[in-house]
Amino acid sequence: MKIFDVYPIFDIEPVKASGSYLWDKSGVQYLDLYGGHAVISVGHSHPYYVAKITEQLNKIGFYSNSIKISLQEELAEKLGKLSGCENYSLFLCNSGAEANENALKLASFENGRKKVVAIKKAFHGRTSLAVAATDDKSIVSPINEKSDVVFVGMNDESAIESAIDKTTCAVIIEGIQGVGGVKVPADSFLKKIKLLCEKNNAILILDEVQSGYGRSGKFFAHQYSEIKPDIITVAKGMGNGFPVAGVLISEKFNAKHGVLGTTFGGNHLACTAAIAVLDIIKNEKLVDNAIEMGKYITTEISSIKEIKEIRGKGLMLGIELNFNCNELRKQLLFEHNIFTGSASDKNTIRILPALNIRKTDIDVFIEAFSKVLTNQKQYT
Ligand SMILES: Cc1ncc(COP(=O)(O)O)c(C=O)c1O
Repeated sequence: MKIFDVYPIFDIEPVKASGSYLWDKSGVQYLDLYGGHAVISVGHSHPYYVAKITEQLNKIGFYSNSIKISLQEELAEKLGKLSGCENYSLFLCNSGAEANENALKLASFENGRKKVVAIKKAFHGRTSLAVAATDDKSIVSPINEKSDVVFVGMNDESAIESAIDKTTCAVIIEGIQGVGGVKVPADSFLKKIKLLCEKNNAILILDEVQSGYGRSGKFFAHQYSEIKPDIITVAKGMGNGFPVAGVLISEKFNAKHGVLGTTFGGNHLACTAAIAVLDIIKNEKLVDNAIEMGKYITTEISSIKEIKEIRGKGLMLGIELNFNCNELRKQLLFEHNIFTGSASDKNTIRILPALNIRKTDIDVFIEAFSKVLTNQKQYT
């Protein structure tokens, strides 16, 4: 059997990883500023994380949601405390798309409506409703097309005012837009959305799949604006690579048996991975480190003349150059062994490292970045 070929890949195979570094089978070391797409939150193979998962696997790895799994309660309690969302309830699932799918479904169960307001260039995942609320026609198949989804420009306050009405089921917005090129919603935009949702009895869903878990320098990026969403979705950094995701559900929703469900969601190993991540984020003060290191990168590169704009917060940064950066990213990877991320906006490089990255690692990037900018090459 062959692998269904849907990913354009780099011909590099890491076989070992630690902290912010990866090694291939020939022992070549790579600096990871991409974190496997913002997934690696506490660093690769963190010893505490490895020990906790190993210990749990030796006890019990999985059983379905038909029995009591008290690790779920421990996870919910720790997540509530660290995120400041103690009044929310947690539904556990397996991926960002699934979290958004469940969030939209829950919203529709609540107010009985169908219309979704989303943001231009948004990415919410590849499943049915999540992809319908994603602004990329190339990944929406005819069966996913929904006439009930309206896209509004980021920070376009008059457009959002016209879009949200009494027929709106939900508004879904990323805490910081990731795939779209690290676009930050203004505080006033988020506050306006919150107000319009309240006025029209629409549900506000904050997709923190990429921008959450401390990456922005707050536990959730939307917390900069001090709004309280009805639903928050999380995945990526939650398990540091272990597939686990969550829907944080505010008090206005009543749980009813059977409305949501999944076989794998909230299993023993997934909960253990997610608890280990929270323990590390708390004990090592990684949210503070995300702010500090984000500021360090931004300051150090701010005078580079080829940079048009640096967007984002904490360790979710988009560096927009005044040209297409595809070749430059390849040069960083193949000449300097540094992984970075791309965006749908081809001029933007995404920087999404582990939250415990150090200044010395960032210095490696800054030196390489300056070199590739002064000596640009074409890769095929
Ligand atoms: C903001 C956002 N939401 C949802 C998703 C989908 O997550 P997953 O790939 O785990 O389904 C992504 C993935 O990149 C994302 O960036």
